[in-house]
Amino acid sequence: MQLRKENILIVDDDINILELLQRHLQSWKYHTYKAVSVKEAVQILRDTNIDLLITDLKMPEIDGTELIKFVSEHYPNLPKLVVTGYPSIQDSLNAIKSGVADYLTKPFTKNELKEAIDKCLDRIENLSGYAFAKAETKKDTAYGEIIGISEKINDVIQIIERVKDNKATIFIKGESGTGKELVARAIHYQGKFSRAPFIAVNCGGIPENLLEAELFGYTKGAFTGAEKNRDGFFQAASGGTIFLDEIGNASKAVQTRLLRVLQEKEVVKVGAQKADKIDVRIIAATNSNLKEMIKKDSFREDLFYRLTVVEIEVAPLRERKEDIPLLVDKFLFKYGVEYKDRFIKISPEAMAVLKRYEWPGNIRELENVVQRAVIMSDKCIEIEHLPHNLKFNIDFPESELQPLKVIEKKYIQKVLNATNNNKTRAAEILGITRKTLRQKLES
Ligand SMILES: Nc1ncnc2c1ncn2[C@@H]1O[C@H](COP(=O)(O)OP(=O)(O)OP(=O)(O)O)[C@@H](O)[C@H]1O
Ligand SMILES: [Mg+2]
Repeated sequence: MQLRKENILIVDDDINILELLQRHLQSWKYHTYKAVSVKEAVQILRDTNIDLLITDLKMPEIDGTELIKFVSEHYPNLPKLVVTGYPSIQDSLNAIKSGVADYLTKPFTKNELKEAIDKCLDRIENLSGYAFAKAETKKDTAYGEIIGISEKINDVIQIIERVKDNKATIFIKGESGTGKELVARAIHYQGKFSRAPFIAVNCGGIPENLLEAELFGYTKGAFTGAEKNRDGFFQAASGGTIFLDEIGNASKAVQTRLLRVLQEKEVVKVGAQKADKIDVRIIAATNSNLKEMIKKDSFREDLFYRLTVVEIEVAPLRERKEDIPLLVDKFLFKYGVEYKDRFIKISPEAMAVLKRYEWPGNIRELENVVQRAVIMSDKCIEIEHLPHNLKFNIDFPESELQPLKVIEKKYIQKVLNATNNNKTRAAEILGITRKTLRQKLES
């Protein structure tokens, strides 16, 4: 069966209607996606390339009109066909106002459905460059779970593309909350070993004496309590990826074993004599300064060089502020649906505050702020829903704060201008002696 090229998403809380629509659509060889709620529909829109949306209006939780508004905003070129039971005039008006392409009343015949779909899709064919634009937007704003359009994020994605299909060791550095783990997961799940395990180990979260046994496994009798042979995370990750988070917290003993893994591609269990070959990609991450640790002799330099074959630096959010609106959008959607069963918006003023803030806690902090604001607000996030420390930044954006010397110089200049460069008068106004004024001018 030759499928048509269009993907159609059908949304209805009534399973019978969904299946009827799907039967019809499949008989015309369209590829269909089904959703029984707006929540599911939005997820599918995000994960796939949909060419036409067919939706009911009256649905529990989030209403179909909300979905139409959402689609009009986020996928302006996507045609929408509303299929509804008894449209009230108000419903119809609202739907048209919020940009519906077409309207079909239940019950409808198969022919009526076909005509409506053709009409919607024809219109799209006539929009030149549509397919191209659609593919571009998808690609440009998200890569797996990673959202961003900034050059810094693009650079990260370029590297991921290069490394995802080979097993080179990768080192990810960046401040706390910048998305290091997200990058590690993207490398694994976008690559060709994605079916094999991805195992994340927080080296700072496991007690030092246990970490060795957890990572490399142990043999029976290796220590009290070791009642039988056990595999570690390295053996469990076989064929896939092990993500060693907070690598700076690994003890010297663990570091020495790791070095052997990297050099020989083999693991020796705690208490064992012989080594086992392993086939695992290692991704390490840290937000501590390993170079400093090397100087203080708490991190092995030889291990450092083995780990940093490929380095990925995830920039702090303040260096890629253009990504803020996209990230806010993602979190608004996530928490709006989770807490309020609807899409929450954000006022331009509140967004301006978010863009101005420096985000020392990076994306994790942004996510927390949006989460809290969604809880505090009803429909739209306003400045009042943001934490105080962000609001203080409104009056005194840090970039505008200047050293006293600079302000003093400007003010002296102003007084001199106002007094026609009369130094005696200027000194009087400034409340200093002529001599002090002269000194300040000289310096
Ligand atoms: N580019 C991004 N797009 C979408 N979500 C992101 C992005 N970067 C980070 N996040 C989200 O921000 C949160 C923090 O990310 P992550 O845990 O990967 O940071 P991290 O650098 O490992 O932080 P830490 O050093 O504190 O462990 C996660 O919920 C993650 O999903
Ligand atoms: Mg992390």
